[in-house]
Amino acid sequence: MNAPIVIDFGKNIKAKMLVDIIAGARPNFIKIAPIIEAIEAQHNAGVNIDFRLVHTGQHYDKNMSGDFFEQLGIPAPHHNLEAGSGTQAEQTAKIMTGYEKLLLEKPCDLCIVVGDVTSTMACSIAAKKINNIKVAHVEGGIRSGDWTMPEEINRIVTDAITDYFFTTSEVANNNLRKAGVPDSRIYFVGNTMIDTLYKQMPRFTKPGIWEEYDLKDKSYIVMTLHRPANVDDKDKLKEIITEIVNSSQGLPLIFPVHPRTAKMLEATGISYSNLHVIGPLGYLEFNYLVQHAKAVVTDSGGITEEATVMSVPCMTLRDSTERPETCTVGTNELLGTDPKNIAPAFAKLFSGEWKKGAIPELWDGKTAKRIVGQIIQVFGLK
Ligand code: UD1
Ligand code: UDP
Repeated sequence: MNAPIVIDFGKNIKAKMLVDIIAGARPNFIKIAPIIEAIEAQHNAGVNIDFRLVHTGQHYDKNMSGDFFEQLGIPAPHHNLEAGSGTQAEQTAKIMTGYEKLLLEKPCDLCIVVGDVTSTMACSIAAKKINNIKVAHVEGGIRSGDWTMPEEINRIVTDAITDYFFTTSEVANNNLRKAGVPDSRIYFVGNTMIDTLYKQMPRFTKPGIWEEYDLKDKSYIVMTLHRPANVDDKDKLKEIITEIVNSSQGLPLIFPVHPRTAKMLEATGISYSNLHVIGPLGYLEFNYLVQHAKAVVTDSGGITEEATVMSVPCMTLRDSTERPETCTVGTNELLGTDPKNIAPAFAKLFSGEWKKGAIPELWDGKTAKRIVGQIIQVFGLK
């Protein structure tokens, strides 16, 4: 691909524009799919916008990365930085070094980062430090207030250097306003993860384990755990899982295990007849399971949003959330990280008293189109 001819008519006006889209970890792939689709649609309609997909390589196992590209029809990345795993600083450094090299060879006009993973922060810094490349943060402004989470640092650092904020909620807008961001740079657009959910819903696929474990509609629980606070300590992990098993009235518990959790789970040595430990599932299979589950127990961020939209009861094993609308509007409830809170929550679920919830504002499946429409307007593209 040749370098784009960029004619700067003033502050942001471009005759032709190259947008970098950054993705590194599982939830990123789900969030970028509709943005790419919306850019391609504009490009095909004759608008002078093009994209370059950069995979940082933060997640690399087939079932954490490649499978999502296949299932969601995401085009192959133009570049893979192959950063891999490491400590927070090692991973950040590898991603920044790789992306900087790419930008020095061929700069982009706008770098779009999504979510709150290390790839998000690392690429936004690399872009901003090269001739002030503009940064757009999709899912900007969310805050948990918990500075022990690496994601909270990623959010704060990314938002400190973001030019255009695409937000999922009014709470996020207010967080940004409190930090001094003017309204002119905040675009309340909704949630691209939910664009993908609505688009893929007709394709959700019953996983093979449905027959194997004799699952019945609304008669099993889905659980996922991957936050360091829950899974990096063997005794804590064992205590949480034991409490879930003891509270579940023998319902099948389907536990697709994140690679971070796998080794520690093995070390706990636990085994229960209704606890079914499996590898990470594909998107279509996982969300089929969630849609038909009695409830979800999780410490994921994205899954609380999907459970909300599908009106499935959701128990979150965290002390805080950066997605408060999943609790105030949706089906999510924060149980905290103390395992003693699990039994009462299950009792409430079995009594049939769990809230039905509603869908947060603008989580309507059209967010990516709004984002790309705004970019075209801001950059004055024809
Ligand atoms: C990361 C994000 C987290 C997000 C999660 C989504 C950060 C700081 N954390 O956490 O916000 O919720 O992704 O899933 O960015 N591993 C593999 N194979 C892989 C990927 C990871 O085996 O393909 C293992 C490695 O041992 C690695 C560990 O998982 O050290 C953790 O991976 P990492 O990307 O550092 O963080 P996550 O816990 O996945
Ligand atoms: N997911 C999946 N298979 C699984 C577990 C999760 O496809 O086995 C999807 C899930 O539907 C959601 C996303 O992965 O779209 C959430 O990713 P994760 O929980 O890893 O990260 P978080 O949202 O907490 O950052």
